Amino acid sequence: MKINQKEVKFAQLGDEVLKRQALMVADFQSIQTSEIIKTMMTALLNSKGVGLAAPQIFHSLAIVIIASRPSKRYPLAPEMEPIVMINPSFKVLLTDKIKDWEGCLSVSGVRALVPRYKKIKINYFDQQGHKQKLIAEDFIARIFQHEYDHLNGLVYLDRVEDDEDIISEAAFQEMMQQLCD
Ligand code: NI
Repeated sequence: MKINQKEVKFAQLGDEVLKRQALMVADFQSIQTSEIIKTMMTALLNSKGVGLAAPQIFHSLAIVIIASRPSKRYPLAPEMEPIVMINPSFKVLLTDKIKDWEGCLSVSGVRALVPRYKKIKINYFDQQGHKQKLIAEDFIARIFQHEYDHLNGLVYLDRVEDDEDIISEAAFQEMMQQLCD
C-alpha cells in the first residue's frame, strides 16, 4: 500500500479533546467524514499503531479504526484488514476480563497492563452507512475497547488497576525482545 508521508499530529494526554465525549456522526458520506477517515488511516498506518480514534487527531467524533498487524510497537499482534467503525457500540459476551499490555499514540513513552473483556459483540456503521457487526475476541476485542474509551473521554491509564502495572516503553521493548528471542 502506498502511504502518504504527511505528518499527522496526535493529541497527547492532557489535551482537552481526549477528555470529551465524542459526537455521533450524522452524515456518513460527507466530504468532512471521509476526509477525517482518510487522515486517520494514513496516520495509523504511518505510526505503527493498531488502532486509532478520531479524537486523537483532534476531531471529537465517534469514529474508530482497528487495524491489528505485527510491528515493533506490537510484535505479537495478529494481522487483519483495517476496519473503519462509525458510531460504534458493544455488548459483552464473556464477562471475564484479561490483563494485557497496551500503549497509545496519545500517551507517549509508557505501557501498562489493562483489564479488558475477552469477548464482545461490536455494532457499528460502515462508511456507506450500513449497519455492521463483529464478534471480537482477545487482542482485537482489546483494541476496540481501548479505542471506544477514547470516544468517551477515557485513556487506558484510567483502567489500570495497580501502579505497578505501568512501565516505560523502553522496559516494554526489552521484555518483548526477550519473549521473541
Ligand atoms: Ni489510544
